[in-house]
Amino acid sequence: MGRNISKPQLIAEALAARTQAVAPYSKFQVGAALLTRGGKVIRGANVESASYGLTCCAERIALFKALTDGEKDFTAIAVVARAPGGPMPCGACRQLLAEYAPDAKVFVADSDKPSKISNFTVKELLPKAFRHVPR
Ligand code: THU
Repeated sequence: MGRNISKPQLIAEALAARTQAVAPYSKFQVGAALLTRGGKVIRGANVESASYGLTCCAERIALFKALTDGEKDFTAIAVVARAPGGPMPCGACRQLLAEYAPDAKVFVADSDKPSKISNFTVKELLPKAFRHVPR
């Protein structure tokens, strides 16, 4: 993990991020907190559209924010929502994480039980990720 922050602290960051979710349609608010190797935390929350398919998940918002701030090296991401066991990242987010945060740990928790944290790695969530390797 990055310096100076514990797993429960990263979950706390994700809980704070979740308060900024814009989810008027599903009402399912998700928060994410991405940790850089240097110890910086970038928060993200889901943003929904009236054209539902345009919705963007919390994980990708956090990742896109970080990448466009020039961050390149990520050690962990925490994700929280009010769901049993917490929200597992969707397939689209797994692909982006596999590309840009391949060595990251993934911490997931129910926002109502934030001390019960499940641990994964990006590699185990998406083995054999697609890579663009043109011939
Ligand atoms: N969502 C996330 O933000 N992250 C996930 O890992 C799964 C789903 C959002 C998308 C949508 O706004 C809402 O949760 C319901 O699917």
